[in-house]
Amino acid sequence: MIEKIELIKKEIKNFQITNEKQLEAFRLEFLSRNGKVQEMFGMMGNVPNEKKAEMGKAMNKVKILAQEKFEDSKSNLQSASRKEFGAKDDITLPVEPTYTGSFHPLTQALDEIKQIFLRLGFNIADGPELEDDFHNFTALNFPPDHPARDMQDTFFVRKSDQPDEQDLVLRTHTSPVQIRLMKDQQPPLRSIMPGRVYRNEAVTAKSYFQFNQVEGLYVDKNVTMGELIETLVMFAKLMYGSDVKYRVRPSFFPFTEPSIEMDVWWENEKGGQWLEILGAGMVDPNVFEAVNVDPEIYTGFAFGMGVDRIAMLRYGIDDIRLLYENDLRFLNQFKS
Ligand code: DAH
Repeated sequence: MIEKIELIKKEIKNFQITNEKQLEAFRLEFLSRNGKVQEMFGMMGNVPNEKKAEMGKAMNKVKILAQEKFEDSKSNLQSASRKEFGAKDDITLPVEPTYTGSFHPLTQALDEIKQIFLRLGFNIADGPELEDDFHNFTALNFPPDHPARDMQDTFFVRKSDQPDEQDLVLRTHTSPVQIRLMKDQQPPLRSIMPGRVYRNEAVTAKSYFQFNQVEGLYVDKNVTMGELIETLVMFAKLMYGSDVKYRVRPSFFPFTEPSIEMDVWWENEKGGQWLEILGAGMVDPNVFEAVNVDPEIYTGFAFGMGVDRIAMLRYGIDDIRLLYENDLRFLNQFKS
């Protein structure tokens, strides 16, 4: 009996499998219902009881040998045929989903802001990030030595001591785009001006050396402060929902008179707090004069809002640095 088992073992080992046909022949000869392995187990009946355990073990080993040879040969043949077609992987497997990326939360917030103001009849304009002193400060009614200039820590790209050569700065706000628009176009004007701005500030959870603003400007005959506030309230409601809690406070900017700021209530675990989202006001007559618009004929309102603040408030982000680090673990949370 043991010789018979050894013989089958040898036959299994010596069987050549180099193609599909031989693989099937092997299966029929050893593993099918009428195959040699089954036949071998059929001989168990003749084995004396005290030998049954030993023989059973030996037969099982032969069976496993045959099964393993079959499986190995099968997968070898498959990968060989794949190589023949030049495919590295099994092309019949389902495709892994591809990562398509998503819009940055700042882009998403900016898109919402743009949509709201487009609905309110504004168009979109832009201007350069490298500005001269005239557009960034002087035309906006910052006198040369006015303390208001100190409100903004500026990155100077060129500091000039020639009277006919201007200082160049990374713009500290988007307000200079107002100046460019009013120089280029006659009223009526109704535009928003989104863009990146720069300030020489220490980097903390609340401040960064670059951020984004959206400037707004509406110039026409008889534009009023009431229309300004109505526009800002409409914006807050469309951005944060009609139950948004907001307040409007008096403020100061050199380029508007009177000036205001708007705060939005931000609920958090500790209760909540007021967060300033924008500055605004009626365009100062001195600004109109700097760009040759007659303040006796026209009035206008302007506003400037922080997109980062608005995005942080909208999405519950508590550290501005997250917006500029491009960590995928953060960005992946804003897939829409
Ligand atoms: N430029 C101001 C700032 O960066 C924001 C601002 C305030 C813009 C009032 C305006 C305005 O147009 O009317 O802080």
